Amino acid sequence: MTWATDQLPDPQTLRELGALALRVARAAATLVHEGRPDRLDTSTKSSDTDVVTIMDTRSEAQLRTALRAARPADGFVGEEGEDLAGTTGITWVVDPIDGTVNYLYDLPMYAVSVAAVLGSPRGPAWRPVVGAVVSPVLNLAWTALVGQGAARHDLATGARTPLSVGTQTDLGHALIGTGFGYRADTRAEQARTLVEVLPRVRDIRRLGSAATDLCLVADGRLDAYYESGLKPWDLAAGRLVVSEAGGVVVGPAGGEPTEEMVVAGNAALVAALRPLVTR
Ligand code: IPD
Repeated sequence: MTWATDQLPDPQTLRELGALALRVARAAATLVHEGRPDRLDTSTKSSDTDVVTIMDTRSEAQLRTALRAARPADGFVGEEGEDLAGTTGITWVVDPIDGTVNYLYDLPMYAVSVAAVLGSPRGPAWRPVVGAVVSPVLNLAWTALVGQGAARHDLATGARTPLSVGTQTDLGHALIGTGFGYRADTRAEQARTLVEVLPRVRDIRRLGSAATDLCLVADGRLDAYYESGLKPWDLAAGRLVVSEAGGVVVGPAGGEPTEEMVVAGNAALVAALRPLVTR
């Protein structure tokens, strides 16, 4: 079966994709958490501060192998490796460790993010249909299936709780998550935006994992989130978790989120925040 961007998989297929996403994300999260070496060798990517550890590479390899074994005709796009083309219209988009700098410093806020998307995640028109984000230190997972809602899973107890975004609509009392890229010029621009936002909100959190930030918005633990420069693997699963929790995730012009800007939260807060971060 091949799916076009505007044609959703049937509910049974969606449930199977969702179960697969959670299963492989949990296995990768266990690998990175339990296999964390005392000394982590790193190499760098887009800048000196953009690190990749051996565990990012191993996690992505495990995700790629598991997804290919389960669904050999789907595509695959990961943060660290080569794309694999598919023939079904479904592409798996994975971040093997979202929050790599936290992981490097043994700080808790990192996660494995796995999404199935329709359309090319390298192009402008793609949409996630399934998402799973697993935080091994928090022992939590957040999942969503398009049209079927989002949930938080307590991995210790197995409890599953439906999610809904927070109800705060006053920007002045909103706790806002954001993040910063790795390039100096990007950061200078992000600092200028922050100067506009910080005096106008309750406070800012920079937790260090975009996928987790988005899930915390869906969970009502952050009121909203914005960031420029996100890649599809940072965004794909968390974006669906927010929208299935009743929130909105938009880009700079208010339509689809883009690499230029992502703003997420309840509709009223996003309407208040977007003009501030896209000036
Ligand atoms: C990064 C994190 C960070 C965000 C950066 C991302 P990575 O992902 O999500 O919070 O601010 O924009 O690149 O590099 O740790 O996978």
